[in-house]
Amino acid sequence: MQNMIWSGRIVFTLLIIILFNSCTQDSIIHPSIANYKLIPKAQRLDTFPGYFLFNNAQVFYTNKELTPLVEDFIMFSQKRLDVQLNIAGEKITKNNIILTFIDNPELGDEGYQLSVENETLNLVANSLKGFAHGLSSIKQLAMLNSAGGNIFIPNLQIKDWPAFEHRGLLLDCARHFFTKDVIKKYIDLLSLYKMNVFHWHLTEDQAWRIAIEKYPKLTEVGAWRTELDGSSYGGFYSKKDIEEIVAYAERKQITIIPEIELPGHSQAAIAAYRHLSCTGKQIEVANDWGVFKDIYCAGNDSVYIFLEDVLSEVIALFPSKYIHIGGDEAPKIRWEQCSRCQQRIEDEHLKDEHDLQSYFIKRIQTFLNANDRQLIGWDEILEGGLAEGAIVQSWRGMQGGIEAIRHGNRAIMSPTSHAYLDYGLKAIDLQKVYSFYPVPKELNKEESKRILGGECNMWTEHVPNEHSLDSKVFPRMLAMSEVLWSDSSGRNYAEFKNRVHSHYSILDQLNVNYGNETTPFQYMINTSANMIEVAIEKKISDIDITHQLNGEKTIHSYQSILKFDRLEESTIIAVANRNNKQIGDSLSLKIHPHLALTKNIEYISDPYSEWYTAGGIGGLTDGVLGSLDFRDGHWQGFWGNDLECILDLDEIRSDISIIEANFYQYNNSWIFLPSDMSVEVSTNGNDWNEWGKAKNNIDPRQRGHFIYTMRIEHPEESFRYLKIKVKNIMKVPEWHEAAGSDAWIFIDEIIVK
Ligand code: ACM
Ligand code: ZN
Repeated sequence: MQNMIWSGRIVFTLLIIILFNSCTQDSIIHPSIANYKLIPKAQRLDTFPGYFLFNNAQVFYTNKELTPLVEDFIMFSQKRLDVQLNIAGEKITKNNIILTFIDNPELGDEGYQLSVENETLNLVANSLKGFAHGLSSIKQLAMLNSAGGNIFIPNLQIKDWPAFEHRGLLLDCARHFFTKDVIKKYIDLLSLYKMNVFHWHLTEDQAWRIAIEKYPKLTEVGAWRTELDGSSYGGFYSKKDIEEIVAYAERKQITIIPEIELPGHSQAAIAAYRHLSCTGKQIEVANDWGVFKDIYCAGNDSVYIFLEDVLSEVIALFPSKYIHIGGDEAPKIRWEQCSRCQQRIEDEHLKDEHDLQSYFIKRIQTFLNANDRQLIGWDEILEGGLAEGAIVQSWRGMQGGIEAIRHGNRAIMSPTSHAYLDYGLKAIDLQKVYSFYPVPKELNKEESKRILGGECNMWTEHVPNEHSLDSKVFPRMLAMSEVLWSDSSGRNYAEFKNRVHSHYSILDQLNVNYGNETTPFQYMINTSANMIEVAIEKKISDIDITHQLNGEKTIHSYQSILKFDRLEESTIIAVANRNNKQIGDSLSLKIHPHLALTKNIEYISDPYSEWYTAGGIGGLTDGVLGSLDFRDGHWQGFWGNDLECILDLDEIRSDISIIEANFYQYNNSWIFLPSDMSVEVSTNGNDWNEWGKAKNNIDPRQRGHFIYTMRIEHPEESFRYLKIKVKNIMKVPEWHEAAGSDAWIFIDEIIVK
């Protein structure tokens, strides 16, 4: 087989070399040889025999507005394809790339039409945006079709336009700072993949990154934090940097939407100017992750003056008609205790602190509107009443977006479930992003038109540098690009993945350290009377799996199901390799045997959160315990509700005396130990006897991450079914910065001995 593939490749290469060396336009490149694998997929593509020779082509256009795009195209061709294109004053006999403005309503504001026919490549569009997208298609085709030192564009006809008008990537430059060059690289990549919005997250609890002339301490103080190890971390963008980046993006028809967070996520600004908070106390720029309670005081007029001054400078820098003001995760505890905030509630006849947040946002919106800009905010801006005309960016699922649409507003969808690129591949892999569709089924046709599009959100708490950033964003952003641009009817993941594979050589050339498409393998655990069986299944076909058992040094090639003694603790480390190079993270499993291993659980309460599934329905009885990393995929999360479930042991047993469960606490992320856990038992699943109850004696204020085991002991008794009830504390307590928000329970696992 190997030989046949190689000889096939040699014949193919020779064929291409012969075709190009003869270098006449009579040569026929058949469509089956050419690569048309555009991402995002074009709305319409027809292919024909023959090709346009890209080398030595001339670009001809008459409208001077096109100059920046053409210059960019020529520079790209030089740098990435080693081809020197010339600008022609008039059409020559051969190899013309001709750009012509037209007026074709069918193509809309961003569409383009590309016709390639032997000696002529015609690109037409109604707008600069359309030309930018058309040129991106040409760049991709040129990078995908080279042979024998020549570059060709296969003869074709493309008619193409986007499904959604807002196609964005959020980059959090506050948690970690990314240089001007990294930002420009991402603008290039957005443009190549026909995304059109760079959502620039510039201010946070952990940093203020945009220089503001009137308030120099915002960057002198707010751009720097003292890390836990005592080192200083930071950086900021000067006005000049921002002007340079905005101009760069503008030339490529990318809109930069700046985000200035308010009223929450504002600790860095308050560290610089303490009068902005309710208490006026000096605080530091945050050096930990989470949600922080010191936010802008809503009762102090100097806060609004400050924000209007800041926004005036922001507006002067960014031509975007949209300004993002955050609005998410603003704890209300300071407002509850602040006489000025309470006075404001009274004076403005507001109901409560949520109303006060709404007042705050509306006041900022009035200012933005007066300056001819529109406000975008996270879905929390719905709480206390949504301002007319405000655009909601839905992140806590799609519900906020739906509510905004029903309210008559517009929405952008970026739900945590599909669009959060800070999540690992176990939760959101390439296929999951590809399965995203920004219009929920609940909306009718008219309502759906108010969904502007979507974004992927790249939060960077755990993304310290460009290398790590690339591996998180790619290839998953390619899926988002297609979801937001292409028609949804022909979606086929296998076909998309095949196109993605063609693009790895492009990403390599652009120095993108792309990550994996998915976790390389998954495991399944089964039990029999005296054995535990672990099967490892490949999710990527061309990998090999090796494993080591129980701490031994020997590395085995994984061939078939691994079997262990039913009563012994066992460990497995598995690694996926391609050409002897490790792919993705290794898998490290420690199996703790107990009597409920692999037994079924039925949920009576709402089931676990789709974000924290512990691998699904068997996650609480798989013998693999959650670690101190709560995103490790082993924890099951319940948000704002109790857990109640029935565990079926498959037989009546009389040898059980201990039932315990592990819980997690990390109150920065609103994860608390449950208030109690109780167990009832039954022989038939209908008649229940109380078996025991456990409470915990841990202070919910205890900071840091830790695991706590709740344990119930009981004299042996006969039963088959266990009903386990775990009580959530329900709301984040009063003293907490996020007081009043829904609390999480994290559990793994239920252990029966
Ligand atoms: C968000 O993820 N807090 C918008
Ligand atoms: Zn206040």
